[in-house]
Amino acid sequence: MNLFDKYSPNKKNTEIRVGTVEENFVLEEQPSREIVFKSASEILEDSKLSQPISTGVSGLNQLLHGGIERGSITEVFGSPTVGKSQFAFQITKNNSLGKYKPISIFIDTEGTFKPQRIVQMLKHQKASQSSTKDVLDNIMVFSVSNYKDQIKVVQSIFQMPNLENVGLIVIDSLTNLFRAQLSSKSQIIRRQQLINLQLSKLRSLAQRNKIAVLVTNQVGMDYQAQRNIPVGGNILAHGVTHRLQIERMDGGNKRLFKIVSSPFIPEGVIELRLTEQGLI
Ligand SMILES: Nc1ncnc2c1ncn2[C@@H]1O[C@H](COP(=O)(O)OP(=O)(O)O)[C@@H](O)[C@H]1O
Ligand SMILES: [Mg+2]
Repeated sequence: MNLFDKYSPNKKNTEIRVGTVEENFVLEEQPSREIVFKSASEILEDSKLSQPISTGVSGLNQLLHGGIERGSITEVFGSPTVGKSQFAFQITKNNSLGKYKPISIFIDTEGTFKPQRIVQMLKHQKASQSSTKDVLDNIMVFSVSNYKDQIKVVQSIFQMPNLENVGLIVIDSLTNLFRAQLSSKSQIIRRQQLINLQLSKLRSLAQRNKIAVLVTNQVGMDYQAQRNIPVGGNILAHGVTHRLQIERMDGGNKRLFKIVSSPFIPEGVIELRLTEQGLI
């Protein structure tokens, strides 16, 4: 199968052979390769299929131009217990409930993945037993406890036989193990290099296969600015496409959900509640 076959909705695309170099007035002989084209209506159909993953919250979907974008990396950061993992569960459930690329890969680096929590969210949606089972069957969970395994797991996704059915990759959290295990000053450069490499692999998985990548990230105090900022510095800031933040509001279950930066989505804020149904 060539690269283009993977993207073709069917096999009836017209193929144009790119012949040998002599035929094409180029100086060097190259192996021939195939190029396919698609009609505009096929491209429109493709784009409908690859719509963002709904958050399940209409106000938030509106802010996010539909939801979590496929083909790029979305980061959600915030302080401990603010709801980052809950949000990740919610997006995972929504991807695996859908028909388009329903396999979700969940890489759990903190040991907090709970299928029961996804079942609970699905119960609120009145999902049948069989669709609940389908959703859970479509979520592949990798529990990793050191950064080398995290790197290996991401690398192994490239070789997955059913990669074309993978719609979402979650890493909860992206930075935790790197920071815990490469914590001395002398290891910081290495740590940043490895996080950078991990992000570039994720970006390539996302772009090549129209996969939404969602990573959670912790925050650290910026004493100068007197506010919480996501850890990972410029490597994270440049390595992810969309940055989202969850913040607590005056105790209770109220949460402020912010779009902090994105190349094409304006900054925005919405007030949500963290409930049994998830963030609503
Ligand atoms: N079943 C539930 N119903 C309502 N709220 C829940 C439920 N489970 C967890 N939570 C809320 O989620 C918080 C933990 O969120 P979590 O996503 O694990 O935080 P983190 O940002 O550290 O990943 C808990 O403090 C609680 O407020
Ligand atoms: Mg968490």
